[in-house]
Amino acid sequence: MQGRIAPANAEWIAEAGQMIRSGALVAFPTETVYGLGADATNGEAVARVFAAKNRPTFNPLIVHVLGLEQAVIIGTFSPVARRLTDAFWPGPLTLVVPRTAKSEVSDLVSAGLPTVALRSPDHAVARALLVAAQRPLAAPSANRSGHVSATHAEHVAADLGDKAALILDSGPTTLGLESTVISLVDETPVLLRPGAVTVEAIEEVLGSRLAREDGSTDRPLSPGQLQSHYAPRAGLRLDAFDWGPDEAVLAFGGIARQPARTFINLSPSGDLVEAAANLFAALRTLDASGASTIAATPIPRHGLGEAINDRLKRAAAPRE
Ligand code: TXA
Ligand code: MG
Repeated sequence: MQGRIAPANAEWIAEAGQMIRSGALVAFPTETVYGLGADATNGEAVARVFAAKNRPTFNPLIVHVLGLEQAVIIGTFSPVARRLTDAFWPGPLTLVVPRTAKSEVSDLVSAGLPTVALRSPDHAVARALLVAAQRPLAAPSANRSGHVSATHAEHVAADLGDKAALILDSGPTTLGLESTVISLVDETPVLLRPGAVTVEAIEEVLGSRLAREDGSTDRPLSPGQLQSHYAPRAGLRLDAFDWGPDEAVLAFGGIARQPARTFINLSPSGDLVEAAANLFAALRTLDASGASTIAATPIPRHGLGEAINDRLKRAAAPRE
């Protein structure tokens, strides 16, 4: 049964819950991307997540919970944090908050930080798995560390092979971009990672502008956001207006089609929601074309465009 892709029906979700409780890793769909889940209270299982992804142990994991009631056992939620959970949970918003003293979550999850990242996924399978496992689930995106995130069960299998004991398959994820990560450790909320909830929507709830991590400290607030990330094998050339016939092309909006090795338009009608949903699968397909470079045409920066551009910038960053 190692590495098996199984339909995300009630029987397999019950089986997956058992597997989580026995310390195994189960990949599961969320509304954003597939996650590689482990019992967050089991240090050995959490350690296996880092090993399976080849993830540096200084990069902490997100803990998935059913809602605020479970979250407050693990982290301390200020009134501002509660305003955000009221508005966006369940959903693609992750909050980094101080850990509680009584937290049963393994220290490894936080990579030595006194904080913990929590999110309540808005996906029937993820929620059913949380119920079946009866545990908070530590789950990073189910891809090799640094590689393109997985929005299909097949992407998980291609990246992680049999490192997940089971992959629950419910087809492509709907949003296609990871959750937005906000730190509420200090009084001022700070954006650590743009994502599927737009900055505009968060600022509307806060009634103020959201502070940005400025990268000026030598102790990064969000350890996962500094490196080359979301990277295909091919090089990525941003803000391209033309390309050679041997390049693969990632287009957006009303771009005239010119000869290219492979050409994918994320959204011919210029819809950022559609583009976000297609982004990671498109990068994998363009990579598989064998092109040595992917040329990406410009994408607007407002709304979900901020998160899309963030992923593309990191995907294009020099590799380690
Ligand atoms: O949509 C998502 O968030 C997906 C699905 C599976 O839930 N998960 C995901 O996890 O994207 P991951 O591990 O690929 O990204 C988690 C991000 C990383 O940038 C990590 O550094 C940051 O959250 N993070 C986690 N815990 C943190 C903490 N205590 N302090 C600061 N940043 C933290
Ligand atoms: Mg990730």
